[in-house]
Amino acid sequence: MSLVTSTEMFKKAYAGGYAVGAFNVNNMEIVQGITEACKEEKAPVILQVSKGARAYANHTYLVKLVEAAVIECPEIPIVLHLDHGPDFETCKSCIDGGFTSVMIDASSKPFEENIEITKKVVEYAHDHGVVVEAELGTLAGVEDDVKVDAADSSYTRPEEVEEFVAKTGCDSLAIAIGTSHGAYKFTPDQCTRNEKGILVPPPLRFDVLEEVSKRLPGFPIVLHGSSSVPQDYVKMVNEHGGKMPDAVGIPEEQLRQAATLSVCKINIDSDLRLTMTGTIRQFFDEHPDKFDPREYLKPARANIKETVRHKLRDVLGCAGKA
Ligand code: G3H
Ligand code: 13P
Ligand code: ZN
Repeated sequence: MSLVTSTEMFKKAYAGGYAVGAFNVNNMEIVQGITEACKEEKAPVILQVSKGARAYANHTYLVKLVEAAVIECPEIPIVLHLDHGPDFETCKSCIDGGFTSVMIDASSKPFEENIEITKKVVEYAHDHGVVVEAELGTLAGVEDDVKVDAADSSYTRPEEVEEFVAKTGCDSLAIAIGTSHGAYKFTPDQCTRNEKGILVPPPLRFDVLEEVSKRLPGFPIVLHGSSSVPQDYVKMVNEHGGKMPDAVGIPEEQLRQAATLSVCKINIDSDLRLTMTGTIRQFFDEHPDKFDPREYLKPARANIKETVRHKLRDVLGCAGKA
């Protein structure tokens, strides 16, 4: 099988009440960890590349790594997606350079300007057989060089979505319902604490999701900022020289619920970063004499695989859906 677009994936996910995982990739071990889990669990997958990933690893290396995964995993459909495309030129470069899906993120622009930029990307992408994700509403957190404070974030306004989708022709829509990027999604004062002293974040705005879905029946919705920030890995990081106090994510059961509704794509990056960093910190702490990168990248890759396997089976519900 060669790279595919997400069109069929989303149709099946919507009808089947599950979501496809969109995992960020930056190097070989991350690509391998994700795709080995998806192959074993027979799950469709979206491998996504940010502007920062292209700057770090180089477009060609990333495309070739993903093409290698397609060869190694012929039994599962794989999408290569641009995450948070900042402008038309970046989207065009990815469309011309082998991606099957792009996101144009003009969500920080005024409504009419967002429509205009998104429409231009959609026209070019569709002419080249590529699909487009757009965004309405602003998530808090950090993505590449854009930092959005919680005070400047805003939920998606359901009354805008029909006009936006009709005028742009986008294929899927990312909305803001209370998720945010990174490992510190909420400040402690936005949360309560459970009996173990662990932070419990405010619930996602399912009312906004339901209103959007009512207005866009059958249309695939995307959730960004959907890492759950597993506390086992936060503990591992903190016990081995790291400092991530009060890191908190989105509870898994809320993501599972969103996946049964109109959410067809769920973005996860921070949980893989945390898995990799915790594993490597522990290795260094326990083996201060080792210096062969293969020795610490191997367990890091193996743990990424297990983190992804857990997402596929227990959060996204897409295991067995390839
Ligand atoms: O949404 C942001 C993703 O986690 C990608 O992060 O821009 O640091 O590569 P990055
Ligand atoms: P997290 O930081 O929650 O993993 O979100 C990733 C994301 O939305 C990538 O676009
Ligand atoms: Zn994102």
